[in-house]
Amino acid sequence: MSLKSNIHPENLPKHIAIIMDGNGRWAKEKGFLRVFGHENGTKSVRTTVESCAELGIQNLTLYAFSTENWNRPKLEVKTLMQLLISSLKKEMKTMQKNSIRLNAIGNIEHLPASVQKELLHVIDETKNNTQMTLTLALSYGSRDELVNATRQICDKVKNNIISVENIDETLINQHLYTQNLPDVDLLIRTSGEKRISNFLLWQIAYAELYFTDVYWPDFTNENLYEAIINYQKRERRFGKTSEQLH
Ligand code: IPE
Ligand code: IPE
Ligand code: MG
Repeated sequence: MSLKSNIHPENLPKHIAIIMDGNGRWAKEKGFLRVFGHENGTKSVRTTVESCAELGIQNLTLYAFSTENWNRPKLEVKTLMQLLISSLKKEMKTMQKNSIRLNAIGNIEHLPASVQKELLHVIDETKNNTQMTLTLALSYGSRDELVNATRQICDKVKNNIISVENIDETLINQHLYTQNLPDVDLLIRTSGEKRISNFLLWQIAYAELYFTDVYWPDFTNENLYEAIINYQKRERRFGKTSEQLH
């Protein structure tokens, strides 16, 4: 029986973020090239996106390519960029069908022009969809995001648009790539690694962390439901005592 029926619809995370990891190891263990793992990872992206939309998750953010991933072998980077273009082309229909709005965070200008073109096209086509916001983190690094925000804020102070006293958490939030997204409630990382790898450092301040040994290409809907059920069993205290919450 599916675990889906054990999910409480009134206590869903508003924002799930996923570090989709383990494509390379998945392929290697089967005797294939790493890129075969990336290809198979796109299937997990589709099922995860569809299940989240179906469950009523409002925001899903997927870590697809980090600023550090530019240092991988040229051929792997090239394949990842090509896969991105073909997935965007293929998945547009699914996004329209499920009323999913596409969004992107990261240093988008750094991506090849062909990727940017397809990305902006799908973002534009889906801009009025309301069921779920799917954010792809592409050429994304949290430190890069914070440097970028700091520069923008300093520039505004320098030009007397704001004063130093105006700098608070809300203002910093507004200058991040994620400006219109709520904080992450649940962060999932697949593949057994237990690290953050420069992902949403500011936004996960109070996220619940969930690590699974499953490699990303093997990640199923049931694995997603398991993570959400686990999340729903936790007590989020935000610094308060347990007694204060009840
Ligand atoms: C995640 O899988 C995909 C990207 C980082 C683009 P990996 O490619 O990191 O797979 P492993 O971690 O080497 O197994
Ligand atoms: C993090 O995975 C980036 C993405 C999933 C896109 P990596 O595989 O690049 O992370 P590290 O290098 O193992 O920390
Ligand atoms: Mg990895």
